[in-house]
Parts: sequence; structure tokens; C-alpha cells
Amino acid sequence: MKSIFKNKKTVSFLASGRGSNFSATARKIFEKEINAKLGILICDKPDAKALSVAKEEFKMNSYFVDPKSYLSKSEHEEEMVRLLKEVKTDLVVTAGYMRILSPSFVKEFKNRIINIHPALLPSFPGLSAQKQALDYGVKITGCTSHFIDDGVDTGPIIMQSVIRIYDNDLLSDVSARILAEEHKILSESVKLFCEDKLRIVGRSVIIR
Ligand code: GRF
Repeated sequence: MKSIFKNKKTVSFLASGRGSNFSATARKIFEKEINAKLGILICDKPDAKALSVAKEEFKMNSYFVDPKSYLSKSEHEEEMVRLLKEVKTDLVVTAGYMRILSPSFVKEFKNRIINIHPALLPSFPGLSAQKQALDYGVKITGCTSHFIDDGVDTGPIIMQSVIRIYDNDLLSDVSARILAEEHKILSESVKLFCEDKLRIVGRSVIIR
């Protein structure tokens, strides 16, 4: 009988801070709700909370790869690629990783990097997306999981989730409601990828 545990994919993460998206997704792998292996976590900040969570909660190898200790962005990324390949990473998840990946990094993991963005793309790409949406006065916003391409928040969209904005909402209210949805669609997107259920056709992602 063909085992569903054959060909398990290895999922690694890049994060910069709190790491709640990392934790939400890694926990599902750790608890076997997602049929995959945990790879490594790489952070660009020494005090990223995700670093200790990875070690203590998920027994993962985690690395602070200091951008400042490399002469160039490409050397920094080359070291990240080396670490990711060392554990045979199939999928890279950027979970609150606050740096733009260069085309050469993207090429190394073509169609194998998933990002979570806190707005309904293509609206409000870039930084502070929740604030951009609130300031604009939209009535709905949400989050988007997508594959990373060479642009900023421009890659093929996997899933989106919508939240309403109410008249008295503070930025913290909106951000918290979006974050709860981020955790759901990021882990669901990773699950679908690990089950080989995502197919990219042009700009679209077909979910089988
Ligand atoms: C999330 O809102 C994510 O969409 C954005 O940065 C935030 C990171 O949060 N890119 P966390 O570190 O996953 O808790």
C-alpha cells in the first residue's frame, strides 16, 4: 500500500519578529495536522521571539543570520540558501520576514516560497498594510497568502480571507482580526502545498 508519509516535504521558515504566523504553521506540522517535516528557521534579527519558540517548542534548528556581517545582500542570501538546502528544504515560508528577497534567491526556490500579507492584494502592498487600509477608509480588508515572485507582494495568490472594518475600529482591532485570519490561511496554504494540491497557471493558483 502506498504510504501517505512517503515524499514528505520539508518546510523551512524566514521570520523577523514575534513569529506568530511561524508558530501557528509550525505547530500544525509538529502536531502532524500538516503532513510535512519541519526544516529550519532563519531570522535576520537576534532578538526575534521566533528563534526561541523554534528551539523550545518545536525542537527546530534556528539561525540568526546577521545581514550586517556580510559584505552584500547576495552574500547574506547565499548563506541562507546554503542553510536551507542543507536540510533539503522543499518549501520556504516567509512569515513576517521584513526583507525583500532578491530575484536570485527567488530563482533558487522558484514557485516554492509562500508569503503572508496583511491586506487583500493587490490593494495595499508593502509595509503597514493594515494602516494603509484603515487610513484609506475601506469597509473590508483582510489578508492574502501568495507565492513570491520578483516583485513586492505581486506573486500568484493562493488564498484570501476578508474581515469587516467597523466605524470605531482602532488599528490594533483591525490588525488583531486580520492576524487571526493570517494564521488560518497561511497554514492552510502550506498544507495544500504539502499535499501537492496547488498548481500555478499564469497568475492564478488552482487548488485541486
Ligand atoms: C504579519 O501581520 C504579517 O502579515 C506581516 O508581518 C506580521 C508578522 O507577524 N508581514 P508575526 O511575526 O507572524 O506575528
